[in-house]
Amino acid sequence: MHPADTTAPRKTLIAGATGQIGSSVGQYLSEQGNWHPVGLSRRAIANAPYPMIAVDLNDPSDCQAKLGGLHDITHLVYAARFNHWGGELESVDTNLAMLTNLLDALESAAHNLQHVHLVHGTKYYGHTVSKRPTPYREDDPCGNPGSFYLPQQQLVQARQAGRDWSWSLSRPHAFCNNRTDEPRNLILIVAIYASLLKEMGLPLVYPGTAHSYAAKTQFSWLPTLSRSIAWMMSQPQCANQAYNIVNGDPKSWAELWPVIADYFGMALGPPDASAFAGFVADKSPLWHAITTKYNLRATDLSSIAQWPYGDYVLSVQWDVVSDMDKALRDGFAERVDSEKMWTDGFDYFRAQRIIP
Ligand SMILES: NC(=O)c1ccc[n+]([C@@H]2O[C@H](COP(=O)([O-])OP(=O)(O)OC[C@H]3O[C@@H](n4cnc5c(N)ncnc54)[C@H](OP(=O)(O)O)[C@@H]3O)[C@@H](O)[C@H]2O)c1
Repeated sequence: MHPADTTAPRKTLIAGATGQIGSSVGQYLSEQGNWHPVGLSRRAIANAPYPMIAVDLNDPSDCQAKLGGLHDITHLVYAARFNHWGGELESVDTNLAMLTNLLDALESAAHNLQHVHLVHGTKYYGHTVSKRPTPYREDDPCGNPGSFYLPQQQLVQARQAGRDWSWSLSRPHAFCNNRTDEPRNLILIVAIYASLLKEMGLPLVYPGTAHSYAAKTQFSWLPTLSRSIAWMMSQPQCANQAYNIVNGDPKSWAELWPVIADYFGMALGPPDASAFAGFVADKSPLWHAITTKYNLRATDLSSIAQWPYGDYVLSVQWDVVSDMDKALRDGFAERVDSEKMWTDGFDYFRAQRIIP
C-alpha cells in the first residue's frame, strides 16, 4: 500500500505513549480521524483518548504476549526511551533491546505494516559532545557514538531492507509544550525561576556561563513535531529519510533573556554561571509563601520542574542549530516563533495558576 494513500484504514501503534512526544502525537493523531492510535508503555494513561496496552519493552516474552496479536497495525511511532532524567548518556543496550523486542513482536504479527517512525534528536550530531559546524544537516555523520540513536537507526534500516514498509525519523531539539504535568519543561523551569527572583527583588540573572548565553540554541514545539510525524508517515518522498524538526528560528539566550525579563517586569541580570538546581535548593519555603500569597495551585518546588534538566540544557557552550531546508524542500513548511512560544507558555502557566 502506498504511504500517500490517506484514505486506507490505518492503525498506529505509539510506543512511549505516556512520554512527552508520545502523548502529544497520540493526542494529535486521535484528533485526525484516520490514524486510529493505540498507545503502548508500561503505565497506562488515565482517560487516554485511545486504547492503551501496558507492556514492558525490555521483556521479549511480554512483547510477544501483548503485541503478537496486533495484526492490523499499519504504522509505528517509536517514541519510547528507557528511564532517564534528561541529561545523562542513556543505555544503548537497553534502548536497542526495547526496539528490537517491539519489532520482533510486531513484524511477525502486523502483515500490513507500512511505516516505522523513530523520534530521535539533535544528540545524533553530538551537540553535547563537542562544538561542531552548524547548521547540522541530516546527512552529517553521527557525532555521538555513545548515543542509542545510530544503533536504532541502523537496526531499522537493516530490518526494512527487502520489506514492504518504509521508515522515517525526526531529529527535534529541547521539547516545549504547554503542560503542567511535565517537569522536563524549559519554559516552566524559567517561569518558576523568574518568579522566585522577582519575589526576592533580584534581577533576572542568567544561571549559566557567558559562552552559553551567547551561543545559539533551538527548540521543538511539540504540536509542530506531532504534525511533522504525521506528514513523514504519509508522504512518499519521506520514505527512508531523516528530518530535523525544530522551530526554525535559532536564538541565543542573550536574545531570549531580555524578552523573559520584560515579560516578568524584571531588570536584566548578567550571566553568573550559577545553576537552576543550586538556586532552588533552599527555596521551597519561599515557593510555598509565593503560592499562598498569590493564591496559586499548591506545587512542590523540587518536583514540579526538573531543575538539573534546565542546567543540562544551559550547559552547552556552543551553537546548536539544525538546518530545516530538507523538511521545507520536501513539503513541511511549518515554523514556530520561539519568542512567542515562550511568552504564550508563560501566559499558559499563569492561567493554570502555576506562577503569579
Ligand atoms: N524530551 C526532549 O526534550 C527531547 C528532545 C529531543 C529529542 N528527544 C527524543 O525523543 C524521544 C522521546 O523522548 P521523550 O522525552 O518524549 O520521552 P519520555 O518523556 O522520557 O517518555 C519515554 C516513554 O517511553 C516509555 N518507556 C520507557 N521504558 C519503557 C519500557 N521498558 N517499556 C515500555 N515503555 C517504556 C515510557 O513509558 P512508561 O514509563 O510508562 O513505561 C514513556 O512513555 C527520545 O528518543 C528522546 O531522546 C527528546
